[in-house]
Amino acid sequence: MRIALSTGGGDAPGLNAVIRAAVLTAINRGWEVVGIKRGYAGLLGEDEVVPLTKESVRGIAHLGGTILRATNRGNPFCYPRKQPDGSYIPEDRSDELIANAKRMGIDAVISIGGDGSLDIALQLCRKGMKIIGVPKTIDNDVSGTVTTFGFDTAVNTAIEAIDKLHTTAESHDRVLVMEVMGRDAGFIALHSGVAGTADVILIPEIPYDIGKVCEKIIARDAGGRHFSIVVVAEGAFPVGGESHKLGESLPGQARRVGGMADIIAREIQVITGKETRSLVLGHLQRGGMPTGYDRLLATRFGGAAVRAVAEEKWGHMVALQTPHIVTVPIEECLREPKRVDVTHDLVQTARASGISFGD
Ligand code: F6P
Repeated sequence: MRIALSTGGGDAPGLNAVIRAAVLTAINRGWEVVGIKRGYAGLLGEDEVVPLTKESVRGIAHLGGTILRATNRGNPFCYPRKQPDGSYIPEDRSDELIANAKRMGIDAVISIGGDGSLDIALQLCRKGMKIIGVPKTIDNDVSGTVTTFGFDTAVNTAIEAIDKLHTTAESHDRVLVMEVMGRDAGFIALHSGVAGTADVILIPEIPYDIGKVCEKIIARDAGGRHFSIVVVAEGAFPVGGESHKLGESLPGQARRVGGMADIIAREIQVITGKETRSLVLGHLQRGGMPTGYDRLLATRFGGAAVRAVAEEKWGHMVALQTPHIVTVPIEECLREPKRVDVTHDLVQTARASGISFGD
């Protein structure tokens, strides 16, 4: 048995722990393992396919990033081909990819990625490739699994930042608006905002009214709390509006959103008259060591993915359905993206404890 591992999409802390667990458990079964570099680029002649041995995964479980590298611009069904004028056109290179995998004697692929990579895995599976998915994303927006690895680390990074913002905001009687990632899902903002005791949390699932946001800040001021912390998800948007697009995307690349902290900070300063500053936490959330939780989840996913290969669960992804790791058809998980349930107890408790969602 010769299996290949691929890490696609944006990286997330815990990828190396999945790779390590999958490589060790596969080798201990007597299988051979290779790594496809940079998503699927290694199978398209744009990068390499490298052997993965016990030696190559030694000492990597605690490291952020991915030893296989990653890309969110490598959809083989929509591969960006550069034109002489510098623009890109999409090209379907899936047949070439499948033929190359066959030629290299790859029997099955474990694809570690978010919704975009899982969608690619499903399409390749429909064309006859034997694939198992492993859900990965700091955004936590993949259905079918209680959580994805990378999310806990990102939330902890955001909490640490909120803790630090509190002291400086309070010293200067300022409003500080911090933007976190999550694309169209508000999980990072909600979890870090509640744990970090933010005053306002804005998420895409609850369109905000800037007047309501400012009411909260003014009320705090009147009550002697002259500073406020606002955590805004990059995909948040006002009532009747839409998320703020950032730049242009290449063919096959997901739409980028963001820039909300700056927009909101300017509005708050004008309406409340309070000095307001903004910051974007950005890719710090994707970097660094995975937390213990993420390392364990990633390790469990890696081992379970190899078992799923042995059981020939093609087209399934491994998932956490507490307390077990199960396999779920990727198709089912992609039907609906996971979003914050606005009736969830965490939202209720946040509201009841005085946090404003700007609605
Ligand atoms: O999906 C993970 C993610 O970090 C999102 O939260 C964010 O919108 C996006 O990727 C950023 O992508 P890039 O690395 O291309 O800026």
